[in-house]
Amino acid sequence: MKISEKRVVLVTGATGGLGTAMCRKLYDDGYIVVANYRNEEKAKEWQEKQHNEGHDIKMYYADVADFDSCGIMIEKITNEIGPVDVLVNNAGITKDGAFRKMSYENWRAVMATNLDSVFNCTRHVINPMIDKGFGRIINISSVNGQRGQFGQANYSAAKAGMHGFTKTLAMEVANKGITVNTISPGYIGTDMVMAVKEEIRNQIIAQIPMGRLGGTEEVAYLVSFLASEHANFITGANMSINGGQHVY
Ligand code: CAA
Repeated sequence: MKISEKRVVLVTGATGGLGTAMCRKLYDDGYIVVANYRNEEKAKEWQEKQHNEGHDIKMYYADVADFDSCGIMIEKITNEIGPVDVLVNNAGITKDGAFRKMSYENWRAVMATNLDSVFNCTRHVINPMIDKGFGRIINISSVNGQRGQFGQANYSAAKAGMHGFTKTLAMEVANKGITVNTISPGYIGTDMVMAVKEEIRNQIIAQIPMGRLGGTEEVAYLVSFLASEHANFITGANMSINGGQHVY
């Protein structure tokens, strides 16, 4: 396949555990993979590691919490590589704490990075996707947006909000060749989950019927499927991938 015929995928927050696995899988699938980053130093090291392991991934800076920063990034990608065909809204942070102690700053930071980001990136790619008659928006939410989690009022609210966005946008663009879906991973073996105190993490793992954390590649395969033409008829869905931790 010539470069120009390849689809362009943009993964936000790409240098984290889930983002890395997605970028590598999508590269192996034959996409031109564009990884968004915020930390320059970490990004350079990450890109070199991926390159050395056979994954040639392009990197673009943006603070996804900032609408204009996302606009500049997407304009550059469009001019230098081509319009974004697949957008994976993956960037996310946690600022956990019992709600009665939660600061306004920790509420805002999580809402801005985890939910505003979905508007900030999607708004800049949606009209070109409509013009092209093809697009994929994949929002990476969380089991904790589906069911709540002690200490995550901010995170759960943002993650639940992502799926509300998915449902509406899916309806609005269903007849334009664009699908919009949410993936809700459970506890996956990423730095974010490993940052939870060991004792608490073990209590959480004990609630997972499969008795283990998920693998980042397991989520990457689902992203790959939703991005593909095999998933043409799936839109507005929220796909759980949580080892049975939350079933409904
Ligand atoms: N359920 C019920 N009560 C709980 C509780 C729980 N899970 N955890 C703590 N409590 C209770 C405590 O026993 C304590 O009770 P008393 O006031 O009666 O003594 C009270 O709540 C307050 O506890 P703390 O003072 O310890 O609260 P804290 O704010 O210092 O710590 C916390 C709370 C940091 C949020 C800690 O509970 C924690 O780390 N929880 C895990 C959060 C979590 O799962 N984060 C996921 C991160 S990974 C991720 O987000 C990825 C993804 O999508 C899955």
